[in-house]
Amino acid sequence: MEYHHFMQSAKHLTSDQITQDVIDKYSRYVNPTQVALLKIGGFDHVESQASGCIVTDIEGNNYIDCLGGYGVFSLGHRHPAVIEAVKRQLDLMPLASKTFLNKPLADLAEKLAEIAPGDLQYTFMCNSGTEAVEAALKIARMATGRTDVVATIGAFHGKTMGALTATGREQYKIPFKPLIPGFVNVPWNDIDAAASAISPKTAAVIVEPVQGEGGIRLPHPDYLPALRELCTQHGALLIVDEVQTGLGRTGKMFGVEHWNVAPDIMTLAKALGGGVVPAGACMATPDIWDKVFRVNPFIHTSTFGGSELACVAGLAAIEVTLSDGLVEKSAANGKYFLEKLQSVCQQYPALLVEARGLGLMIGVEFASDDVAKLAIGSMVHNGVIAAYTLNNPNVIRFEPPLVITQEQIDTVLQTFTASLEYATAILRSLEEE
Ligand SMILES: Cc1ncc(COP(=O)(O)O)c(C=O)c1O
Repeated sequence: MEYHHFMQSAKHLTSDQITQDVIDKYSRYVNPTQVALLKIGGFDHVESQASGCIVTDIEGNNYIDCLGGYGVFSLGHRHPAVIEAVKRQLDLMPLASKTFLNKPLADLAEKLAEIAPGDLQYTFMCNSGTEAVEAALKIARMATGRTDVVATIGAFHGKTMGALTATGREQYKIPFKPLIPGFVNVPWNDIDAAASAISPKTAAVIVEPVQGEGGIRLPHPDYLPALRELCTQHGALLIVDEVQTGLGRTGKMFGVEHWNVAPDIMTLAKALGGGVVPAGACMATPDIWDKVFRVNPFIHTSTFGGSELACVAGLAAIEVTLSDGLVEKSAANGKYFLEKLQSVCQQYPALLVEARGLGLMIGVEFASDDVAKLAIGSMVHNGVIAAYTLNNPNVIRFEPPLVITQEQIDTVLQTFTASLEYATAILRSLEEE
């Protein structure tokens, strides 16, 4: 049995004892209900290290990471180019003084402007997806002088107050009401509903190119172009939330490129930090930037955002994505994976509704969320990390690193099929009781 670095500090403890200790501390100091749920789901293992597509626990068990940190690990875990850039920067200056100019920030902003869709040119750096969305909402309000925001049902934009108000699931919002006035959630993929919600007070429409936490729900081919058109007609801004879809996840560098849509504002996070450093970004056009930052360049700021460390990680992540053809790999591997999952769906019509996705952002919809949970538990037991989507527990998502190999995909497919057999056997035994 291999003992990893943090076990060395507790050599006298077995891995079981360490696991129990961590569970106890979670129960006492972190989140008792969360740890209880992790136990039920079979996720009560202590992670110890990770590399590429593989996460290893303290007992030395390996798992293929098909959750990919909800889209964080597009490059895999600890990509050498990102690690090297970050290590070099650590020895120079990890965090910005916030007084002088910061070269990694300048270089990353230039690179983002080069690859971003449409006229997005300026970047505000922050540390997470929800912060990127907060920035987008504030920028939209200030640039338009309007207050209201149209978002979609099932959308996930984060859990700080503004992003939460735009998020489209009541369960997460009710305890915190009143939230920000002037926001409305309209049905996804319904352009008429968006058209009737938009008014002269609408500052922005915010939308994910593919709803991630909503259950990997794809837009109709004309939905995003029609939203673009609607915003232009009404003088509202189109905010595209690419926090999960951005940087190759869907088989294009940005999700909106599938429909040739140019947003006014775009948010990024997750994969932007190369799977090594937290990083978020909000980008907008020069005209919008001028309206927000010209008079007061400090109208929206972040102490940690745009640190040298995050920016060198971001630059390395984009360089690897481009040089290693990860966007193309995502498209090709995603097609292979999705087709196989679609044939699994045909084999198990009583359990599975459909498999859908774009690139390596794939969801399998189950007929019942209980069966989905059984399948997830069985998969983790057999060495594959998967999870359901936050706003739609009927859907298991497959969002592995874009560097996943076909061999690893085949292993995941075998494990998934075995989990369906397991669920079938459990259901049969329940029926017989
Ligand atoms: C589309 C989208 N926007 C925003 C967020 C919030 O990001 P974070 O959890 O980094 O705040 C998420 C997180 O899953 C997301 O998927």
